[in-house]
Parts: sequence; structure tokens; C-alpha cells
Amino acid sequence: MHPIAKLDHKFLWHPFTQMKDWLTREPIVIRSGKGSVLVDVKGRQYLDANSSIWTNIHGHRNPKIDKALRRQLEKISHSSALGLASEPAPKLAARLITAAVTPAKKRNFPSPRARLPSSPSLTKVFFSDDGSTAMETGIKLATEFAKRTRGITKPRFLSLEGAYHGDSVGASSMGHIQLFRRSCTSILFKCDTVMSPYCYRCPFNKAKPEKADARSYRQCEWQCVDVVERAFARQNKKGAPYALFALEPLIQGAAGMIPQPEGWLSRVCEIARHYGTLTLLDEVMTGFGRATTKLLPNGRSELFAFQREGVTPDMVALAKGMTGGYLPMAATLISQPIFDAFLGEYEEFKTFFHGHSYTANQLGSAAALANLDLLESPRVRKHRATMEVELQEGLNILWKSPWVGDIRQVGLIVGVELVKNQRDRTPFKLQDRVGIRVCEAMAKKGVLTRPIGNVIVLMPPFSTTVPQLHTMMTVLFESLRETLG
Ligand SMILES: Cc1ncc(COP(=O)(O)O)c(C=O)c1O
Repeated sequence: MHPIAKLDHKFLWHPFTQMKDWLTREPIVIRSGKGSVLVDVKGRQYLDANSSIWTNIHGHRNPKIDKALRRQLEKISHSSALGLASEPAPKLAARLITAAVTPAKKRNFPSPRARLPSSPSLTKVFFSDDGSTAMETGIKLATEFAKRTRGITKPRFLSLEGAYHGDSVGASSMGHIQLFRRSCTSILFKCDTVMSPYCYRCPFNKAKPEKADARSYRQCEWQCVDVVERAFARQNKKGAPYALFALEPLIQGAAGMIPQPEGWLSRVCEIARHYGTLTLLDEVMTGFGRATTKLLPNGRSELFAFQREGVTPDMVALAKGMTGGYLPMAATLISQPIFDAFLGEYEEFKTFFHGHSYTANQLGSAAALANLDLLESPRVRKHRATMEVELQEGLNILWKSPWVGDIRQVGLIVGVELVKNQRDRTPFKLQDRVGIRVCEAMAKKGVLTRPIGNVIVLMPPFSTTVPQLHTMMTVLFESLRETLG
């Protein structure tokens, strides 16, 4: 065993990993990376098919991000945001706010609430360290906002079935994956759950399975929206609306790459607004061009999933890809009314007493600015659009496998749900570790990704060439055949 692998075995505890299994085999030890290729200590090369757990945007050692970091290193790495400003953080905040502008879209469905006043736009940025802390910021702000504006001292929260928003106590409370939260339920706060539209397994979808994304052939009456409406109405009847509705826009990640049918997001956000509930959109996975490669009417790139549906949320959580996948840094974008609720004389103590030592880190800010520059470059824009089409076409090869039940693609995010029986959608048992086995076979063929239960994820960095993209899909296909026959 390589000496570093031995050290790892001796001293490390890996996240979301059964360490008993981990200790039975030699881990892949990554030494370097370039573009979409990772290289281990033995010189073996791998394609990074899940962008190093959804963080990396432009590939590894991107010359522009590297240069921005070096330039920043020559000045300073970090100075405190408590009582001091810095050069790169305000520039980044301004860029994020501009990037998140959402022109209203014409609805392609009749809306009973068409005359609702438009939502306030996002105007402020609160920096933190990772997806969990970006969510935690939003949860705390919503709690205090409900108290200050409505006198609600015991706020109620709502999030989607299968939601995952991080592992801190607040973010875990808003999550509903029992496997992740059951060991600490006693320390979590209550958060109601409402149906997430999972067309492939939706009880309202009358369609028989087809070899296509279930959203495209579903037969339903949008009952999933009615269910959300009823949840809000029920809570309202109790005397106080939900203080916060948190959700991932367009696609839920850790829930199993579960995409929403077009129009669902704008409808439920309208419902939340009607009932006076703040929306906190978790773009930790979807942000920075993952979920859409389209352009806004103003000619800028749609960098966030909510822009696809012309929604203006009250808050947005960003992390993972914000620094291009280089450094841990996160942000919560906030609308003006929330910010205003925290203004007052010092002795009123309306201050938001919350923050982190590394808040608004200068190195992270410099990397994030370079990431945004790259996302707006014509070359990257064009390549992302090409990748989306290549994925759409290339994924069809997987329908040759009898084990593929649903292929779900949202922009450059792909989830392939494996099933025991295509005809009746019978799932594999989690204990069979089908997803894990397929990904292990893929790793042996030089493609790295991580499953979510029976769902195989492909989320390549935008540096991925078209041939590399096809290698990822072919390797997945071959690994299915090899693992499951
Ligand atoms: C949608 C979503 N929100 C929040 C998080 C938590 O982010 P982090 O792991 O950076 O705390 C994740 C992580 O996977 C995520 O996918």
C-alpha cells in the first residue's frame, strides 16, 4: 500500500463513508489534476465526472483562477470581515447581485396570483464558509425576520421531501433524508415536509414507464402543486404562515437528482409569496451555471436555476462552485426588506449576531471573481451549451441497458436511476449497493463519480471536452453491463 494511503487509513475519518469498508482496501490518493483529469500517486489518470463532489466548475488548475489566486496571494490571504472591509469581497458581492438579477418571465400557465406585487430583488450578500453555513444564515435571518415583522416567536418552517441542505444542526433540521438525520433527531428543530415533484415515482403520474425522462411523458393534473398549496393553507389557518420555505430550485441533488417539471418552481414560489412566507432557494449544487446554459434577455448568462423560471426569491444560498471549486466559501444573497429589519440604533441590539472567522475570505473572493469572469467568457458559454446537447444525445446509449429506469438531465446535471425492473419501476434494495458497485467499476475504467443510492450522477466540470464527455457516458454504460449483466 502506498505510504500516504497507510497514513490515511491510520488517521483519517472520511465523510459519509463506512470506515469499516474503507479500511479494507487501498484508497485512490489524488496527487494532481488538470482540467477534468485527476492523477493519483501511482500516475493513474481519472476523469472527474462529478466535479469533485459538485464543486469544481472550470476544471483543475485553471490558468485564470490560478493567476487570480497568485495575484491575491501577493497582497494578502485573509483579513477579518468583522470591523474591516477588503478589496475583493465587495467586488464579489456586487458581481453576485448583478448575476442574480432575474427579469420577470411570462408565465406559460394561467396564474390566479398574477397581480401579486413583484418580489423585492436581492440586494445584500452575507458571506460564510460552505453550503451548510449559507443555509444556516438564511434560516436564522428568517427566524428573526418573522419575529420582528410579525411577532412570531415560534416560527414554522417548510421544506421538500428528501431535502438535503447540509449537516449543521439548522441545515439538518430543514433536511428530510432520514438516514442522515436519525442519529441526531433529538437535537433538531421541527420542519414540516411537503411533496417534492418526483415524476418518475409520482403517485399522481398515470403514465406507464417509457425510455425517456419521466417529466417528458408524465400524465397528471399538477396535483403536486395543489399539495403545496394545501400545506400553506393549512399552516395559515393555524394563525401564522410559514416563516420560511427552503428548497432546491429545478432539481434536488442529494435526494437523488430529482428534477422538477417546468413551471413547478414558479408556481410554488408564487404560493409562498401569496402566504407571506420567505423563500430560501438552495443553489449550493445548482448555482454557477450547472442547471442552465441559457442566456438572460439582458445577454448575460443564466447562472442560477431560479432564473430559468423568472423567480425572485427572498434569499439564495450559494457555495460549492462559487470559487470554481478551489476554496471553501459561501454566500447568502438577501433581499432588502430582510436587511432593513436588522437596522437600528446600537442599543436596540438589532444586529445580526452571526458570522465566521473566515467570512469574506480574500483568497476565496479572488477565486470567485475569476470564476464569474470565466462563466461570462464567450468560449465557456458556447462550450457549456455544447456540453448540454452532447449529454442529451449521448445519454440515449444508456437506454440499451435493462437496468435504467429514468435519465434525468437539468442543464449539466445528470442523474441515472437504476431499477430492478424497468416495466414496473421496482427499485434495487439499498443493501444491494448497486450504485456503489457500478461506480467502483467506473473507477476501474478511469471515471470517478459517486452514487446517491441507486442513482448514478454525472456532473462534469465545464472543462470537459466532448470526447471526455462521451467517455464518461460509455464507461457508465459498460460498467452497468459488467456489474449487473
Ligand atoms: C443542495 C445542497 N445544499 C447544501 C449542501 C451542503 O453544502 P456543504 O457540504 O458545503 O456544507 C449541499 C451539499 O452537498 C447541497 O447539495
